[in-house]
Amino acid sequence: MKILVTGGAGFIGSNFVRYVLRVRQDIDIVNYDLLTYAGNLRNVEAVSGDPRYRFVRGDIAEKAQVEKLFEEYSFDAVVNFAAETHVDRSILDSSPFVRANVAGTVCLLEEARKRKVSKYVQISTDEVYGSLGPTGAFREDTPLDPSSPYSASKAAADFLVLSYHRTHGFPALITRCSNNYGPNQFPEKLIPVLIQNALEDRPLPIYGDGMNVREWIFADEHSRAILMALERGNPGEVYNVGSGHEKTNIDVVRELLRIMGKPESLIKFVKDRPGHDRRYAIDCSKIRREWNWSSEVDFSTGLAETVAWYKANQNWIQEIRDSSYLNYYERMYTNRDQTLSDLKA
Ligand code: NAD
Ligand code: TYD
Repeated sequence: MKILVTGGAGFIGSNFVRYVLRVRQDIDIVNYDLLTYAGNLRNVEAVSGDPRYRFVRGDIAEKAQVEKLFEEYSFDAVVNFAAETHVDRSILDSSPFVRANVAGTVCLLEEARKRKVSKYVQISTDEVYGSLGPTGAFREDTPLDPSSPYSASKAAADFLVLSYHRTHGFPALITRCSNNYGPNQFPEKLIPVLIQNALEDRPLPIYGDGMNVREWIFADEHSRAILMALERGNPGEVYNVGSGHEKTNIDVVRELLRIMGKPESLIKFVKDRPGHDRRYAIDCSKIRREWNWSSEVDFSTGLAETVAWYKANQNWIQEIRDSSYLNYYERMYTNRDQTLSDLKA
């Protein structure tokens, strides 16, 4: 089987590429990625010499490029990870999110439909469901109620994917996963920001009161669920993926400081994010029941492994900080204890 993986130079896409090539011999991968600030070929360096793997640089929102790609390779399936992904950036400027996440998804759907691709998996997020109160969990039939321009653009893409199934009978399905963590995550998201600042004995910025709750899943486990979605998922359906490890941001930072042997005095409460969703929690009983999938990595173990990776890969961080793709603010943001909006204010 030959699959197109888009966004395979990013955090989760590269994890999926490495995972599939490790566990399966019968799958060839073409990784199509624009290499935005978040894309990094170092993340796929380990597989770059594998004869089952190819990298093509390109934009999912550029029709001519996407047509050429499908012309050149005959894909059996598509897994779409490519997206703008950071909520704080979407608050400062939402237009790149509409372009990559909405127009890009349509462009891929259209070409994949024309070429009669036999499976299309859209990698979505639990953030499309909005925010929860203190109890309950998102189910696949929970109505979408996104809060940020990021989650709104992902929700728009989800509706388009489902419309292609309903209107054209196109075999597309969606996964919606909770917050991922692990090696290779760009140092703008919570866990890598905390690890990197703690390594440098700099303040750890926590938005608001730190009581927002996220459900944290180790990225390897997400990859395992996506491969199941590709092989066993039913067209037109949605599949939630989660770990059950619900943590307040304060719980996360305390656990991290314990693992790293650093003092809690490093915690610094900063201005809250506008429209900050209070709590996410995901009911993934459907994939447990249908695919016998379950989360196996406990949070402390995954976090310790992640800390060890960042400690051992400080050259990866340094290369990002030195990267000419980053503008002044972005460079500051990967080396800071403030929020992006504070820096731009
Ligand atoms: P990331 O920001 O690390 O990587 C995104 C990748 O997409 C980068 O390699 C970037 O170069 C590429 N890209 C962006 N725009 C592109 C375009 N127009 N054409 C081609 N490539 C483009 O993101 P991530 O955290 O790995 O997330 C991957 C996917 O998983 C996204 O769709 C995201 O919405 C979803 N998701 C993420 C999480 C999470 O916790 N990170 C949770 C659930 C779902
Ligand atoms: P983030 O990693 O940006 O993921 P998302 O917003 O998509 O869930 O943020 C996770 C949580 O951590 C969220 O509640 C916002 C909070 N946060 C901080 O407190 N400080 C930070 O520096 C960042 C980046 C996030």
